[in-house]
Amino acid sequence: MTIRLVLAVSLDGRLAPPQGGPARFGGAGDRRALEEALAWADGCLMGAGSLRAHHSSCLIHGADLLAQRVAAGRCPQPPVLLLSRQCPPPDLEPHWPFWRQPFARWLLTPAARAPTPGFDRVLPLPPWPQLAPGLAAQGLERLVLLGGADLAGAMLAAAVVDELQLTVCPLLLGGRHTWLPPQLTDLPGRWEPVDQRSLGGGELLLHYRRSG
Ligand SMILES: NC(=O)c1ccc[n+]([C@@H]2O[C@H](COP(=O)([O-])OP(=O)(O)OC[C@H]3O[C@@H](n4cnc5c(N)ncnc54)[C@H](OP(=O)(O)O)[C@@H]3O)[C@@H](O)[C@H]2O)c1
Repeated sequence: MTIRLVLAVSLDGRLAPPQGGPARFGGAGDRRALEEALAWADGCLMGAGSLRAHHSSCLIHGADLLAQRVAAGRCPQPPVLLLSRQCPPPDLEPHWPFWRQPFARWLLTPAARAPTPGFDRVLPLPPWPQLAPGLAAQGLERLVLLGGADLAGAMLAAAVVDELQLTVCPLLLGGRHTWLPPQLTDLPGRWEPVDQRSLGGGELLLHYRRSG
């Protein structure tokens, strides 16, 4: 089981503009790196805050990546597992594209109550150390964690993130939206590099695995 955090970050370590809201600063190279990660994944974990900001989730568009998944007997798009402390999650609007995107929608919440309109499945969110075995039991061995900072911070602090895939984008954003919440301290572990390369357009991919 592997959980890989995938984010686009600015040179000053921000993941959203100073005013908050949707972050759309990754270029074509970042887009491809994101889609390759989605194509690798059995499922995507996403914080409800990111859905409230974007009203949608990420899709694989590359025909080659979609064909590879189908040839391997996998669904074209990995299911999205939305994390919320509430059931149903608050402040989600029915007209958002998310509800019509071509993937299965699962809800992971400590307040699980099935059925919940709009979600194909509702699973109880266990304490973090039991998350990986619980998802593996559902057939999900490779998870992409799409953020945002709140959820990524909680999962990193609990040492349940195995890999970091960061696209460093060539801009400075400023503001308070660092890619991990600034109040986090004492994060566990060191990280060893797996891959580092240029994605073109001034973007750099940094891929690390937790060591030890
Ligand atoms: N640059 C990038 O690659 C990237 C990627 C993703 C997001 N972003 C940006 O990040 C911002 C959104 O991030 P965010 O930090 O505000 O929100 P977030 O991390 O996406 O979502 C936070 C929400 O997730 C749920 N959650 C968090 N921890 C939980 C836990 N332990 N158990 C159950 N549910 C939990 C809660 O939902 P409820 O409130 O429903 O309980 C919480 O309010 C947006 O501006 C977005 O554009 C950027």
